[in-house]
Amino acid sequence: MAAKRDQWGNRAAFVLAAIGSAAGLGNAWRFPYTAYANGGGAFLIPYFVALFTAGIPLIILEYGLGHKTQQGAPGAFKKIKETWEGLGWWAVLISFVIMSYYGAIMAWIWKYLAGSFSVAWKSGVADYFYKEVLHLSSGPAELGGFSTPVLIGTVVTWALIYFILRNGVTGVGKVVMLTVPLPVILLVVLAVRAVTLPGAIEGLTYYLQPDFSVLTDPQVWLAAYGQVFFSLSLGFGIMIAYASYLPEDSDITNNALITTFANCGISFLAGFGIFGTLGYMAQAKGVAVAEVVDAGVGLAFVTYPEAISLLPGGPVAQTIFALVFFLILLTLGIDSAFSITESVIAGFDDK
Ligand code: PHE
Repeated sequence: MAAKRDQWGNRAAFVLAAIGSAAGLGNAWRFPYTAYANGGGAFLIPYFVALFTAGIPLIILEYGLGHKTQQGAPGAFKKIKETWEGLGWWAVLISFVIMSYYGAIMAWIWKYLAGSFSVAWKSGVADYFYKEVLHLSSGPAELGGFSTPVLIGTVVTWALIYFILRNGVTGVGKVVMLTVPLPVILLVVLAVRAVTLPGAIEGLTYYLQPDFSVLTDPQVWLAAYGQVFFSLSLGFGIMIAYASYLPEDSDITNNALITTFANCGISFLAGFGIFGTLGYMAQAKGVAVAEVVDAGVGLAFVTYPEAISLLPGGPVAQTIFALVFFLILLTLGIDSAFSITESVIAGFDDK
């Protein structure tokens, strides 16, 4: 391979791309419900411990590894020790699995984005999601119907990923100028609107009120480490691949710190938007916040859309809110999706 390795156009392109990979559905959706399920405000203690003991050291390590070896994960490990190449392929394999389902979730988001114009789920969001979008069957043994919207969404997502990655990191560098700042701006808009809704304060209390008794529960600590790994995209070979396109004189440590803290800030901000809205919904339905919160797929695709359909201001206001929310998910998700694809591509390309 005599050709010169592709290189980021400038430092901002790399940092934004790394933040783009880190900030994804894990921030807008996984972080808020993980925090809520693991002690609310008190979750921040194990979270920061995990960040300082695993997140920051490992992101520096991954950047360093990619930067020094100029290879994706398999090649990078191979350069350390011949027999370690398999470790890198293991990361590539995991990336491949996550990449497949991340693309499917992106497809659901497209469907909701299209449905936002008429708030398509207003007559019953659970039916809308499980029947109309997913065509969910009774179990894996029954294949059920074919979902055209999911197919279309998947094709659109993969077409986008293809066109963005086609020209290597030069193309990525341009795209992230839009896909990283845009969701942050929209998240601010969402959070401001959410916390000014009636009942929002109940939701926020629910999100942030610490329950320190959970700190003795190992499960909570596990959740914190899990969140840090997933959110910073660690162990997938992504940060190694991205850093392998850095020029020689790059500031690894500061780039790592910027990525980490930007990512945390985005997670934290998303929590305000989500829980402010859920507080409003609980009040509108006259129930406790605990009864409306759903941890998992249901939060982004059932609970939150339902909250949107209950918002004051009529259909236009609801459509705007829905568009903002799904545009956030889409723009947060797309750069995570192509980053994980890049990890797989870099592995094979280097080989
Ligand atoms: N970090 C991304 C998020 O928070 C998820 C992700 C993990 C993306 C691994 C790519 C690879 O959503």
